[in-house]
Parts: sequence; structure tokens; C-alpha cells
Amino acid sequence: MKKIMIKDMAKHVGETVKLGAWLANKRSSGKIAFLQLRDGSGFVQGVVVKEEVGEEIFQTAKGLTQETSMYVMGEIIKDERSSFGYELQIKEIEVIHAAVDFPITPKEHGTEFLMDNRHLWLRSRKQHAIMKIRNEIIRATYEFFNDNGFVKMDPPILTGSSPEGTSELFHTKYFDEDAYLSQSGQLYMEASAMALGKVFSFGPTFRAEKSKTRRHLIEFWMIEPEMAFVEFEENLEVQEQYVEFIAQAVLKNCTLELERLGRDVSKLENIKAPFPRISYDDAIKFLHEKGFDDIKWGDDFGSPHETAIAESYDKPVFITHYPIGIKPFYMQPHPDRDDVVLCADLIAPEGYGEIIGGSERIHDYELLKQRLAEHGLDESAYAWYLELRKQGSVPHSGFGLGLERTVAWLSGAEHVRESIPFPRLLNRLYP
Ligand code: 4AD
Ligand code: MG
Repeated sequence: MKKIMIKDMAKHVGETVKLGAWLANKRSSGKIAFLQLRDGSGFVQGVVVKEEVGEEIFQTAKGLTQETSMYVMGEIIKDERSSFGYELQIKEIEVIHAAVDFPITPKEHGTEFLMDNRHLWLRSRKQHAIMKIRNEIIRATYEFFNDNGFVKMDPPILTGSSPEGTSELFHTKYFDEDAYLSQSGQLYMEASAMALGKVFSFGPTFRAEKSKTRRHLIEFWMIEPEMAFVEFEENLEVQEQYVEFIAQAVLKNCTLELERLGRDVSKLENIKAPFPRISYDDAIKFLHEKGFDDIKWGDDFGSPHETAIAESYDKPVFITHYPIGIKPFYMQPHPDRDDVVLCADLIAPEGYGEIIGGSERIHDYELLKQRLAEHGLDESAYAWYLELRKQGSVPHSGFGLGLERTVAWLSGAEHVRESIPFPRLLNRLYP
């Protein structure tokens, strides 16, 4: 008998097959039992009819506990009523391991309880769907950058200096030296771009930030492209094409998952380049018109501000040209103004906040040296980075997209803790 996976059932209609599965849920009467089965690749209903299988198998089916693992043998039948289109007419059940008191039942549970049981919570339909969407974004990311001539370069995770300032770094010992966990691979990606032209990284990053919001993780994954000979506006074009590409890939390849999550897909159909742009100056004016009196020119936006701005658009929106004082040292100043830099944050719709931060980078040696000093950073730690500006320096730009915020947005999850398999949050390092 052929052993198959649920996702491949359509290819085996009418055949009797073997399936390794767990029991997600079950319903039964005196004559028939409906088993909700999952095997990781999908969910399907198995039907056990007493008259057909006999008393013994029927009693086994009725006695199965939630999350019991088993092999089931049965015939695949086309079934229009099931959302999946098929069901399994079960003939035999071979229990592998009977689960005892699975803690996550179909009733409602509190968040802390679910988080403590993350190792088991991942099995639920909703979490399964979010992880499949995460996987699709990862797959589409590699496709997009590979097809557009980017080379994947992996920056180090243990570093001796920091791109975004030192306050949010995890410190560790590197034998006798001090080291930090990377908060961004950007500086190394700039060196890589000077060697390979267009590069991207995709890896974990760490922020020792005491933020407890639905958008902040302590450990998160970032995609960081960096491009030689690419200036501010061209950088935005790559960003909007990339975000369109992943949104459309999820829409096309995750239909079942989006449906299971109840995601309003009409909101995703809109995610097509070009995206609107609003300058920081205009965003401040807009916020004042909307009655936000708490913010003045030179302040950074909080999430209520970002949400108010995003609400005026049905696509992600770029906020461009932030004040120099609230951005990192490496951003290229505006050619005609010394108070703003050539940067943009991309704000997702529906209150999901900033998903990308990016900019053109300073490529002039003297200016970069001066900015390091103004930021009180130790020049010797950045000597190699400064040296890039002495060896055929060119205009270059890049950005960082936060994977988990993007997963949360596209899947409609309320909180980033559901968009990564094992979230690291303030006060949570378990499981
Ligand atoms: O805006 P950020 O801090 O930018 C950088 O790190 C740049 N060096 C990137 C670059 O230009 N190569 O972070 C980039 C993105 C944010 O827009 C957000 O999506 C995500 O990373 N991010 C977080 N996601 C989850 N939890 C956190 N604590 C995050 N901090 C940033
Ligand atoms: Mg940012």
C-alpha cells in the first residue's frame, strides 16, 4: 500500500492508501466517527463507518485521544462538502502512540498558557497556517533576489561593533574580547556590495530592547539587501517591487491558509507597486491636521502616528527624508538640506507599522568620519568600514525588511509572537 501525504491526496483519488497522521479532533455517534487528521502537510477528515470496519476498529476510532499518532489505511474519496475537496474512508487504524491529556483543547486558552505551550501550540490550524505563510515569504524572497541578480552573503552574528548604536546590544565574551550579537548585518553587507554589486542577507538579528509591543521581538529575522551604484529613489523601487512580489506570492500560493485565517484578501490584492511616498515634513503637517498635538518636527513617530498615516492609504506607504537627529550615523544627507537624510521607512497598512527601514549610505570618507565622531562612536572599531570609502567608494543604498512583522501583516496575526516558531520576547526565553 502506498504511503502518501495529505497534500498529495488529489493525485490518488479512488486509491487505498496509508497515511501517517495525528488526531486533531473528532466527533462520533453510535455508527460513524469523523476524525480530523493532520500530518503536517495538511488537514483532512477521515470517516470510520462501524458497519464497514467492524466493532473493534470502530471502538479504536471512538477511543482515540487528541494528538494520538497513528497510521490509517483507507480510500480517498472526492467530497465537495469538505473545504479540502477530499476525505478518507478509513478501513484500518494502527495506533502508534496514544497521547495523554493534550493541554490545548478546542476551547479558548489565555495567551500566556499558549505561549508556555508553544512547542504544542504550533500544531494548531491557525499556527500551521501562519508558519506556511512565513515559509512562502522566505521562498519568495530567495526567488526574487536570485532572479534579480543578487548574491546571498551571510554577515557574522558575533560582532565587535554595532550599526545602530550600542544601547540595544546583547553583550557576550569572545574569549578575552567583548562581543555583541548582531542587530543588523548592514555594515558587512556594504563591504559585500563593493565586492559583488548586489547582495542580500537573511538571518537572525538581536535587539536588547525593553519594548513590550505587538511589533517587537528580541530575536527576529531580517532580509538586508545592499546595492552598489544604487541611489535613494532606485532603492525605493526595489523595495516596492520586492514587497509586491512576496504579497502576491502569498496570495497565489497560500489560498487555503489565508482562508483558514479569515484574512481579507482584497486588502492584499492592492499590494502592487508603485507605493505612495510622503515626506516626513508632510507627515508632521498631516498629523497636526489630524489633531496629534503631541508631536513636533524632529520627534520620531510612535505607533499611533504611523497607524494614522498608514490609514490614509490602501497600500504600504514610504515616509521619506527623516530628520538627521533621529537616524543612524551612516545615512546620506539630503543634497540641498542639512537637516534631513536620504532615508525611508515603509509602513504597512492596517496598523502593522514599519516593515522596512532603509537609506542611501554616506560614501564620502570625511563626512562619514565626522558623523562617527558626532555620534560618539569609536573610530577604531569602524576602521574597516571607513576604509571602504577610500577604495573606490561609490553611491550605494540598502534596506532591511523585518520578516516577522511582514508575516504578521500578510497573515493578519495580531501579534508578532505568532509569526515566528519560538518567539523571544521580553520575559520569555521558554520554550
Ligand atoms: O529599521 P531597522 O532598525 O533598520 C536596520 O537595522 C537597518 N540597518 C537595515 C538596513 O538598512 N540594512 O530594522 C529594519 C526592520 C524594521 O523595519 C522592522 O521591520 C524590523 O527590522 N525590526 C523588528 N522586528 C521585530 N522586532 C524588533 N524588535 C524589530 N526591530 C526592527
Ligand atoms: Mg527603523
